[in-house]
Amino acid sequence: MSAPHRRILVTSALPYANGAIHLGHLVEYVQTDIWVRFQKMRGHECWYVCADDTHGTPIMLRAEKEGITPEQLIARVWHEHKRDFDGFLIGFDHYGSTHSHETRARAEQIYHRLKAAGLIEVRAIEQFYDPVKQMFLPDRYLKGECPRCHAKDQYGDACEVCGAAYQPTELIEPYSAVSGARPERRSSEHYFFRLSDPRLADFLREWTRPPRVQEEAANKLKEWLQAGLTDWDISRDAPYFGFEIPDAPGKFFYVWLDAPIGYLGSFEALCAREGLDFDAYWDAQRAADSHTEVYHFIGKDILYFHALFWPAMLRFAGLRTPSAVFCHGFLTVNGQKMSKSRGTFITAESYLRHLDPEWLRYYYAAKLGPTLEDIDLNLEDFVARVNSDLVGKFVNIASRTAGFISKRFDGRLAPLPTLADTPLPAMQAAAEGIAWLYETREFGKAVREVMALADAANQYLDQHKPWEMAKQAGWEAELQRVCTVALNAFRLLTLYLKPVLPRLAAQVEAFLNVEPLQWADAGRLLADHVIQPYRHLMTRVDPQAIARMLEENRDSLVPPPAPVRHGEHQQHAVSPPPAAAPAAGIETLPLISLDEFMRVDLRVARIAAAEQVPGADKLLRLTLDLGGETRTVFAGIKAQYAPEQLVGRLTVMVANLAPRKMKFGVSEGMVLAASDERGGPYLLAPDSGAQPGMRIK
Ligand code: 2FM
Ligand code: ZN
Repeated sequence: MSAPHRRILVTSALPYANGAIHLGHLVEYVQTDIWVRFQKMRGHECWYVCADDTHGTPIMLRAEKEGITPEQLIARVWHEHKRDFDGFLIGFDHYGSTHSHETRARAEQIYHRLKAAGLIEVRAIEQFYDPVKQMFLPDRYLKGECPRCHAKDQYGDACEVCGAAYQPTELIEPYSAVSGARPERRSSEHYFFRLSDPRLADFLREWTRPPRVQEEAANKLKEWLQAGLTDWDISRDAPYFGFEIPDAPGKFFYVWLDAPIGYLGSFEALCAREGLDFDAYWDAQRAADSHTEVYHFIGKDILYFHALFWPAMLRFAGLRTPSAVFCHGFLTVNGQKMSKSRGTFITAESYLRHLDPEWLRYYYAAKLGPTLEDIDLNLEDFVARVNSDLVGKFVNIASRTAGFISKRFDGRLAPLPTLADTPLPAMQAAAEGIAWLYETREFGKAVREVMALADAANQYLDQHKPWEMAKQAGWEAELQRVCTVALNAFRLLTLYLKPVLPRLAAQVEAFLNVEPLQWADAGRLLADHVIQPYRHLMTRVDPQAIARMLEENRDSLVPPPAPVRHGEHQQHAVSPPPAAAPAAGIETLPLISLDEFMRVDLRVARIAAAEQVPGADKLLRLTLDLGGETRTVFAGIKAQYAPEQLVGRLTVMVANLAPRKMKFGVSEGMVLAASDERGGPYLLAPDSGAQPGMRIK
């Protein structure tokens, strides 16, 4: 039975471009990625886009503090975020930036349409102004004494000591957290989105109902709507890092105005790359005709923006509104808020240094449901669950049986066995039920169901004991049959877990010698089929590795961030620490941190074309295929290589080197080659098995 073909666009919230991705963020990206991978396995057209959220005062000030431009900061952080998402196998179809021409154009379009609908109003408001820094101060940059408990150094809108909320004007002895200056009150014109317009309230009352939002979210939204919406201030005065409002010099769109528009911008870039029809997804009329679907996965803290502001903006700009907004809860670690002093504020990068990303994907999946409830990463439970479920129950089925097939039967599975006494019919029949659990984001239930099937497969093995059969003569046919059943069970379990464990699934597909598994493949079994020798698929979690990771994330030990600085007085900030001398005999460059190395994006590339460059003594023009994308690179290797020797070879390139304009054209990267006085350059080549586009690290 095949479900009708769907056309789906999915997003996760855009992370701010001034902080590292941590395990709290990853709950959402893992949840979304599992759902998207599932939809793709069902054969649907499903696109997953996201982007960095790059605008606003904190990013502007952070760049200033580091002595770089906001553009440099967001470019650097983009690569860090992308690296972490790749590390956790988050399969975005496009990862963009809100600081893009697509997002700017869409922000302007939406603004003009809202204005034409009479929903933009300009009025003067008074705010705190820092006369030294010459900027208006957002609440979080205004500090002073709490008007209730008189605690010092509290923020402009709430006291962290007594919990009181107040107006910034109530703060005693206010000061600017940016310069320390005493702020002044100044008036300035601001642009407002008129949420108080009755048309919006009418629309939103209808819109904010299940299944467009979850029941719990609908209740919250109802409360907010009953309290009444006030107009939303969508402008900020210069200096501000963002998009200037088209007809208002010196005024910029507030970061939260263009952030969700980044979903459109990122999708538009994908449309250009893939030849997709943007309007079929976003124009109100065309989307209704095309039956396309749009889903936003978000955290419960940003429900207000996504279920009130955003649909209102879209609706009155003539664009389609989301099919649904899926809200999730927060992450706690060992039952408590993530904490730097306990070391539980764990960055994605440090997790990946110590542990396997698929362990966390599995653990999160096992804990996730469709509600707004928080989920807890209990580290002891994490070790126990991964070791018992993934290694003990799942991988074990293959490791106990594959060797017999390889050694005794030349890798050949038995002809299609009688299935009556096996767990296979029930495992196949479970396909649609498990699919429904994935569809409804009941991942915890899906995983439990799959593990119950794994238990049945293990019981089958325990009953039939192929390891005993292997010791006795005359049992060959039965040994082959039992192992064939077990490996078919393993294939089905892999298929059902593939949205959660995509890398492991790819390894299993290679081992079983099958095409990438799709959901419909649950209807088939492998028989009389040759598999590859079994290679170890997953190790157990070592609790020591967790201890090391926590230690590394503990506040006292976290080295201060090493920003890339350009000011001449700050050069020492990045000079290497005194460290053990490198191996004698070779004088290397100064030490760099792993972080710094990881910022170099090295990729496997296939040399698709190599040509002479008329007039150039040393250069060849190479066209490098990165597995879908090609780059032109000029390489100084003419003395060593004839172009025709190079075509088809795999090599290694730096894929994130800023393009350089050279005399003969623009070089979009660099190939790696070895040389010194003894000879060269000798191009690097990866070992066999490497594919164009693979990251080298
Ligand atoms: O809360 C946040 O981290 C925001 N950067 C999320 C933006 S989501 C979307 F609206 F862009
Ligand atoms: Zn207080």
